[in-house]
Amino acid sequence: MQIIETKEELRRQVAACKRQGKTIGLVPTMGALHQGHASLVRRSVSENDVCFVSVFVNPTQFNNKEDLAKYPRNLSRDAKLLESLGCQFVLAPTPEEMYSAEEMNTTFEYDFEGLDKIMEGKMRPGHFNGVVQVVSRLFYLVQPTRAYFGEKDYQQLAIIHQMVERSKLKDTFGDLQIIDCPIVRQADGLALSSRNERLSSIEKKTATNIYKVLSESVKSAKSATVEQVQRQVIDAINAIDGLEVEYFEIVDQTTLLPTKDFSHAIGCITVYCGPVRLIDNIKY
Ligand code: PAF
Repeated sequence: MQIIETKEELRRQVAACKRQGKTIGLVPTMGALHQGHASLVRRSVSENDVCFVSVFVNPTQFNNKEDLAKYPRNLSRDAKLLESLGCQFVLAPTPEEMYSAEEMNTTFEYDFEGLDKIMEGKMRPGHFNGVVQVVSRLFYLVQPTRAYFGEKDYQQLAIIHQMVERSKLKDTFGDLQIIDCPIVRQADGLALSSRNERLSSIEKKTATNIYKVLSESVKSAKSATVEQVQRQVIDAINAIDGLEVEYFEIVDQTTLLPTKDFSHAIGCITVYCGPVRLIDNIKY
């Protein structure tokens, strides 16, 4: 496995793969890898000739400097895991290598047709601009055949699909396929996330209630209205010491628009567990 730190070396390796007609799988990550990432990497390794994993804490998608500073980083541990999974190339550039000074200091503006004004986009203004900026750059540099993303960040995935569909009209990313991968959970239901590393052991236990309440809501959805289920989930989670709901929206799985019924619906939630912001979702 090779760790690539420069765009020049990346271009060389990608060109060599393309010359040999190899298919390329890309797993974009911000590191602090866990078994959720491992499931994406396993799938990429099994479906492509070569697997690239990017480990890059993208500064332009953080609207909160403290959050960026506290984001867990451990490249040597990540590299060991990736090697054991059969990944061939780890892309680990510095922010200066990825972006010019101008790009770092100007907000990248993308028209999301409203997808960025709801849920995560509303709570973290500018966040998805940074995500699209880095993901489109990675697609441009790595030219993957397939790119793998987890469904935990459901809105991010919807936005990436939108970006790729639109750019296909202009043929930017060729026949790139975006592969949606299911959430990986601990046995107690907590969705795996790099942010879990920041939870104390008590908080980790408390956080398991998020999925418990979401699962209960699937049962309630059989007889209650969307508004009733929404209220039930928010009230049940807020009643637990140490948890506070930031938003819980029940929306259509494709458009992410609010929906009045549960067919093709998904509930997306963000909860503060102590100081740590956790996201999760459940399909109805
Ligand atoms: O989901 C993430 O970890 C990040 O948003 C991504 C897609 C790697 C872009 O920085």
